[in-house]
Amino acid sequence: MKTLRKPDEMRAWSLEQKRSGKTIGLVPTMGALHEGHASLMRASARDNDVSVLSIFVNPTQFGPQEDYREYPRTFDADCAMAEQIGMDAVYAPDADAMYPANYVTYVTVERLTEGLCGRTRPIHFRGVATVVAKLFNAVLPDRAYFGQKDAQQCAVVRRMTRDLDFSIEIIEMPIIRQPDGLAMSSRNRYLNANDRTSAVALSESLGKAKALMDAGERAAANVVGCVHRALSGVPGLRVDYVEVVDAEEMTPVERIGGTVLLAAAVFIGKTRLIDNIKYKVPES
Ligand code: PAF
Repeated sequence: MKTLRKPDEMRAWSLEQKRSGKTIGLVPTMGALHEGHASLMRASARDNDVSVLSIFVNPTQFGPQEDYREYPRTFDADCAMAEQIGMDAVYAPDADAMYPANYVTYVTVERLTEGLCGRTRPIHFRGVATVVAKLFNAVLPDRAYFGQKDAQQCAVVRRMTRDLDFSIEIIEMPIIRQPDGLAMSSRNRYLNANDRTSAVALSESLGKAKALMDAGERAAANVVGCVHRALSGVPGLRVDYVEVVDAEEMTPVERIGGTVLLAAAVFIGKTRLIDNIKYKVPES
């Protein structure tokens, strides 16, 4: 497996693949890989002639009080997992290669980034859209794989790809969960034993809300209320948001119809966890 460190090196490698007629899959990550990432890499290795894993802890998507410095960095273990799955290259630029001196250019996706995580993390999606556009320009993928756990990120990347005319298929893969339901996340490493016990309440609360929708509830406020009730009193847990939004526009809905996203974020101690379910109203 090849390791590439600079955008021009990465692009040269990709152009060589393209010249020999190969399709390229990209799995963009910040490292600290887990089974969720593994599922993206397996899909990429299955669908494409060659596959690239990018590992870059992107400073521009972290707010000043967030965990950029503490974010787990496990490069050797990440490469071992990628190689075992059959990835062909790792693109791991350092921050200076991505953001050279006097860097001033950012990609802003409007409206979709205002609510949900964008409210608590106001610069987050500008950093994500910018770095993903830069990864696309360096790797030149035919397909790029993202996890549904970051559903708002998926919607933002899809829209940016369309609006900026990238000819790349964005593939959203299902959430991978621990046996008790906790969504896999690199930030789960921050949880101590008590936090971990509390954390399961997040997926359980969404499960209760789904059962309510399955039973015919169509008022978003009642679904949101169900999640809040399930989360209240969980030790150490503070709700950031619970919302039902249109699954593409990320705007709040009052009535549940078509396909909606029920999304929630909680703080457990200092760790912020997110989870969601996509709900498609069955046609009657
Ligand atoms: O989901 C992530 O790991 C990051 O937000 C991404 C897409 C790699 C951009 O830094």
